[in-house]
Amino acid sequence: MGSSPDNQPANFKRLPVEGLNLLQLTDSHLYADPSRCLLGINTLETFDQVLAQALQESGTPDFILATGDLVHDASDTGYKRLFGRLQLTEIPTYCLPGNHDIPGKMKQILNQDNVHTIPSVQAKGWSLIFLDSTIPNSDGGRIDENELELLEVLLQSHPDKNTMICMHHHPVPVGSRWMDTMVLENPDALFKLIGANPQVKALLCGHIHQAFDTEYRGVRLLGTPSTCVQFIPRVDDFAIDAIPPGYRWMSLQPDGTIQTGLNLLPKIPSGLDLASMGY
Ligand SMILES: [Fe+2]
Repeated sequence: MGSSPDNQPANFKRLPVEGLNLLQLTDSHLYADPSRCLLGINTLETFDQVLAQALQESGTPDFILATGDLVHDASDTGYKRLFGRLQLTEIPTYCLPGNHDIPGKMKQILNQDNVHTIPSVQAKGWSLIFLDSTIPNSDGGRIDENELELLEVLLQSHPDKNTMICMHHHPVPVGSRWMDTMVLENPDALFKLIGANPQVKALLCGHIHQAFDTEYRGVRLLGTPSTCVQFIPRVDDFAIDAIPPGYRWMSLQPDGTIQTGLNLLPKIPSGLDLASMGY
């Protein structure tokens, strides 16, 4: 019997067929020990649940983007476990580091088979650029001189392709005092390059563990809930939000626009420590 829209779960949202179809999974905060929890929830379990739901809801996207803080303890075991999960999808997956990651280790373990840590990829008229915004031994973000030079070369190499820049840290404040202490510390250098390259249509980040969708200097800025815990938006101090884990789907259109949305698990994982003051 063929499927009909009536048979689909209420939260089913198929990605548009046209365009470059992407899934963003971010801030998975896995551990070497698969039983370890972050703020009361098992991050491996929620990652597996979000990945399974995302694949079920989206069919086969062109790419998966994993935008940092992938392994909380930056352990070999954690990265190998993540690689195993991503390899099983058989979907080309692009990983970039967050403040909890070790970029060199990621490149060793997460750059095999269908999983990549390369700086860019081009497909369906779009160029995706993956930047390392981490600062060693700091939770803050910066696009250092090497990354700025790389970005400039990549932008000049594909001037006629619509472009989305992906990085872990948020490029502009999101309105949360505690989170904005970790905002990208040199946005002017980044946006100067973006301003000189009008093919840049969007900037995608992780790190903020919350939904974010705005426009800044003509560029769409997108941020996304984590596959584990979420933070309450626009507050002064660290606070956990009573919102389930989730992911972002995107369909990058030939005209440079982006269709996108967020899908969450059906319920908050049991054990989530809503009273936590930090981690
Ligand atoms: Fe982060």
